[in-house]
Amino acid sequence: MNLVRLVAHLGFCAAVAPAFAMAAPPPPLIPLPAQIGYADGAFHVDTHTPVVVADHNASTRRTADYLVGLTGNERGLHLQVKEHAASPKSIVLLRDPQAAVADPEGYTLDVTPQGIRISARDDAGLFYGTMTLAQLLTPDENHGAVSVPAMHIVDRPRFVWRGLMLDSVRHMQSVAEIETVLDQMARHKLNTFHWHLADDQGWRIEIKRYPELMRIGAWRTPINAGHDGQPLRYGGFYTQDQIRQIVAYAAARYITVVPEIDMPGHAQAAVASYPYLGVTGQRPAVSEDWGVHPYLYNVDDATFAFIDRVFDEVMALFPSRYIHVGGDEAVKDQWKASPTVQAKMHALGLKNEDALQGWFISRLGSYLSAHGRRLIGWDEILEGAVPANATVMSWRGVQGAIDAVKQGHDVVLSPSPDLYLDQLQSARADENAGRMPVSDLANVYAFEPVPKVLDATQAAHVLGAQANLWTEHMPTIAHVEHAIFPRLDALSEVDWSPAGARDWRGFLARLPVQFARYRKQQIGYADSAFAADITVDRMAALTRIASSLTITNQAGSGDLHYTLDGSVPTVTSPLYRTPLTVKLPLTVRVASFSRSGMPLASSRQRVLDRASLLSVSGNDMPNCPGSDFRLRVQPMPDVTSLSPNYSINVFDSCQLYPATPMDGIARIHVDGVQLPRNYQLAHDAKLVVSRPHSTPFGELVVHQDRCDGAVLATLPLPDPARSTRRFALDGALPAAHGSHALCLIYTAPIDGDLYALDRVSLLGEEKTPSVH
Ligand code: ACM
Repeated sequence: MNLVRLVAHLGFCAAVAPAFAMAAPPPPLIPLPAQIGYADGAFHVDTHTPVVVADHNASTRRTADYLVGLTGNERGLHLQVKEHAASPKSIVLLRDPQAAVADPEGYTLDVTPQGIRISARDDAGLFYGTMTLAQLLTPDENHGAVSVPAMHIVDRPRFVWRGLMLDSVRHMQSVAEIETVLDQMARHKLNTFHWHLADDQGWRIEIKRYPELMRIGAWRTPINAGHDGQPLRYGGFYTQDQIRQIVAYAAARYITVVPEIDMPGHAQAAVASYPYLGVTGQRPAVSEDWGVHPYLYNVDDATFAFIDRVFDEVMALFPSRYIHVGGDEAVKDQWKASPTVQAKMHALGLKNEDALQGWFISRLGSYLSAHGRRLIGWDEILEGAVPANATVMSWRGVQGAIDAVKQGHDVVLSPSPDLYLDQLQSARADENAGRMPVSDLANVYAFEPVPKVLDATQAAHVLGAQANLWTEHMPTIAHVEHAIFPRLDALSEVDWSPAGARDWRGFLARLPVQFARYRKQQIGYADSAFAADITVDRMAALTRIASSLTITNQAGSGDLHYTLDGSVPTVTSPLYRTPLTVKLPLTVRVASFSRSGMPLASSRQRVLDRASLLSVSGNDMPNCPGSDFRLRVQPMPDVTSLSPNYSINVFDSCQLYPATPMDGIARIHVDGVQLPRNYQLAHDAKLVVSRPHSTPFGELVVHQDRCDGAVLATLPLPDPARSTRRFALDGALPAAHGSHALCLIYTAPIDGDLYALDRVSLLGEEKTPSVH
């Protein structure tokens, strides 16, 4: 059928172009489109509504099939794809060279009482319009037919690089799990999947020419291998067939996969496979530690021959214009200590090792350029002279991006900690493992990719923003999903929606429906932003009859319904409005709901009695002053459960117990845990605090008020070789009056395991703590 007639026949030409009015709240679309205008009426979509591939194009057909699959699975709304509109009441997908939005990723979407039409100049735009429609067809938790309000959407992305990085080295994901992530990226209109494939802890990409990378480099022996539920070895690699499958799966969703082979640092797995690539001539083990390692590639011709051949296979697998070469965290000690490397540096007339890294990266850039590709690397590549066409990914804050743009480079903003999804999203004691400080949902949402200091010409070098998920503390897809969602929703709006459309409250209002979609899609999203924080005035609760109880959540959004009888709260349970005056003992349970009663966060419980108030989780005990570093880790690196996890500071095991009325307190009980010290700290190793100890394995020393305050108890640690990883310490405390805080310091030798506090309980004369 003639396209113009089809369009006229469906009555779109006259019906669209309503006045732009933002009276109604926007429909639950994430990311928010560039422009939405509303009109009267609605279009009813049911199983009789055809999805018409109006341009008879194979990619449009694939997009239509994708839509039909999504609505069938998630709403039980089984639509049929048709090549022709038998009835005017249709959903029409049309690739049209005359479409209003010129951007290849842009589209228009019209809903009138007569039908729905998406038109775009390009396949990508049509796909994104269809992803918008998929959200319009799932506006609530209901099943089946849906009424879509009449509207006119004109949409295009703000940035061309809308990225997510996944680290498949520290922990791997299956092909199906990666496809789940790609599906979600597509639905959030993200278009760049940066895949971290080679690092100190593993080589994950099959390179046919170098089999030792797969035989040796892909495997590490975990700490405590074969014990405590640990496997004998951890690892694996993606075969070239699997990689082709992932690249094709991504391409069908308009996502480019950008592979990263990290160089010249993060090289330990490569050097373990082929020691000639390294500097020392020694063969290290593939690392089972996290952190910054000393192993670098050398700068010999044989090494560049290896890299070029690896690139040949990488380029054959990945059609991406960009190849990521890493460049981060290459401590230069090995280059400094090697006479061969030094000789080469001097022969090249380079003044120092940073310049040598610049030369190294330029060498990679030339090879990629000669093959029609472009180099992208982390911001350290700026430390040496890099090719003008190199693109810089700014991760150490945004300064790298500013510097790079001023030198004329394109940049992608993926600063730590803001866009690092392995940062915890809340400091709740029940949060999963990850890094501190917290980067919460609001923080990701507020991130502005274009630094203010750039003028308009410079700003054009900002390709977009990317979130990074490093997986040291994310051993399963459940960990990965918890870390990614819903912060990916926030990122999608940062990357796609116009800067002026950013509206935190509006975003929060659209999230309950998105959470409902996640539940249908079986995505393990985090509800941390809405989870209830139940706090009492601890001092009052411990000293007086009544205390004030406050319930909040991180986002300050949603209705908090509570019970005081231990039952699960529902929307009919009392709604929290102002602080409650309560008497202990008491069990408080709180669940969060949207205004319309959709679940926002599952119920959280707090048992409030004297024993539980005196028993504090290590995850709720701050670091001692002077050392902010903090991680939330699992008992062992590859443990697959989400909890328990423990807070550690690898530089100083010292935490504070809150101020507490000490009258009547006679004892301290500590549930402690011994954790592997599997961190490579490079030059920061000298910052690790070593404390004198008086018994062979060190002690837990309890100080009053301050870390240099009076010693109240010294509790010797068990022999790590003979004890289980979890242990209990008990000690008497001298009688004290009034309110005092405690400082708890582990003095264990720093060449041995790390120690953490699971829970610290103060007790009266009774013997055992009551732990909740
Ligand atoms: C990085 O986080 N090392 C890029």
